[in-house]
Amino acid sequence: MKILVVGNGGREHALLWKLRRDAPGAELFITRGNGGTDALATSIPLDAGELQSLAGWAEQNQIDLTIVGPEAPLAEGIADHFGNHRLPVFGPSKQAARIESSKAFAKGLMARHGIPTAAFQVFTALPEAEDYVRSVAGPVVVKASGLAAGKGVVVCDDTDQALTALRETMEGGAFGVAGAEVVVEERMTGEELSVFALTDGQNVVPMVPAQDHKRVGEGESGPNTGGMGAYAPVSLATPELMERVEREILRPTVAAMAAEGCPFRGLLYAGLMLTPDGPKVVEFNCRFGDPETQVVLPLLRSSLLDPILEIARGGSLAGVRLGWSAQAAATTVLASGGYPGDYPSGVPIHLPAELQSSDDVIVFHAGTRRADDGALVTAGGRVLAVTALAPTVAAAAERSRAAAESIRFEGKHFRRDIGWREIERANAHA
Ligand code: AMP
Ligand code: GLY
Repeated sequence: MKILVVGNGGREHALLWKLRRDAPGAELFITRGNGGTDALATSIPLDAGELQSLAGWAEQNQIDLTIVGPEAPLAEGIADHFGNHRLPVFGPSKQAARIESSKAFAKGLMARHGIPTAAFQVFTALPEAEDYVRSVAGPVVVKASGLAAGKGVVVCDDTDQALTALRETMEGGAFGVAGAEVVVEERMTGEELSVFALTDGQNVVPMVPAQDHKRVGEGESGPNTGGMGAYAPVSLATPELMERVEREILRPTVAAMAAEGCPFRGLLYAGLMLTPDGPKVVEFNCRFGDPETQVVLPLLRSSLLDPILEIARGGSLAGVRLGWSAQAAATTVLASGGYPGDYPSGVPIHLPAELQSSDDVIVFHAGTRRADDGALVTAGGRVLAVTALAPTVAAAAERSRAAAESIRFEGKHFRRDIGWREIERANAHA
């Protein structure tokens, strides 16, 4: 079997790692692989955004399955291109990817189908948006509707801040066309939870829930990033809560997409807030999360390939159940100096040899590459995601932190408090 993974970050490295375990004999390919994917897959010289060329290449090379990592090619319609060539692809159509690429669409869908989410309004004209913000009593969140790489959201404390955020998003062009339409919504409170679910457009198979750390600084301080770490499982997500999430959110959302003529086949990622009124949707993503994938997949005992192939071939997930390890996982992201602002690249990385042969530590590469002399160097803001497995989240986080300390590159920074909420909960119960 030949499998192509589109994308080249930590999430895609984790997908390859799992695929290699599921199918030791498969031939794996990746678009412009990074410094860590070489060992698992052949790198092809095409970008994730070259949709036509990728479909052509997959056809020519008789690829049996293509798995799309990032949202941008999905929003551009990569799954439709592959579908037109009758190539099995894992990832939703362009129309279905709107659940992530248009927050206005996602919020409208939830409103039309009674799926719990924060109260909201959508605006395309600044004066109306300003009037609305002045009229609401509580704090709001201002969001650019389009894709903004996780940066188009301003959580506001007061009206003045909200007015500034509106002007910057709609007039200042801070998020380009993504900000021409804004969603203003009620600010919710509670802990967040990332829930991945495999879906064939009808059946839903949830994966183990995870929590990520979006802020750059410890204690959730500083600006937002693509994600500085994650852990799983999350004890707040009891079987009862997950049953409720499935019943009130996942199944109704998948049914709503089908009812609106854009069935969602692929990986639905529900970003939830556990509010005093129950779980509510913060956002949907149309693909695996990064870095949550780096903790969820190492805990998956059963095959990922089997259900993914079923979905990509247009089959059914009826009766499919996933098997999970009883362990916990934590991942620490090592970032380049300056990230999430400007950062250098080409900085040499020293990876201790013992990490690469460890059973319970997995070093996933994100922004790395091999220099001409074969040396490993940095090539992005998020450089590595170091996942550790252990019986508890606290122990996994400790191991991940120790491994993160032992890796060296100039400017390296990372959070030493991955999983702190879970660890506080465990200590409170002890
Ligand atoms: P999003 O890109 O929509 O996931 O938003 C990014 C982050 O902003 C989320 O992970 C939350 O931490 C925060 N956020 C978004 N919407 C809300 C909301 N309605 N209430 C409180 N926080 C929010
Ligand atoms: N970890 C957040 C995301 O993948 O969007």
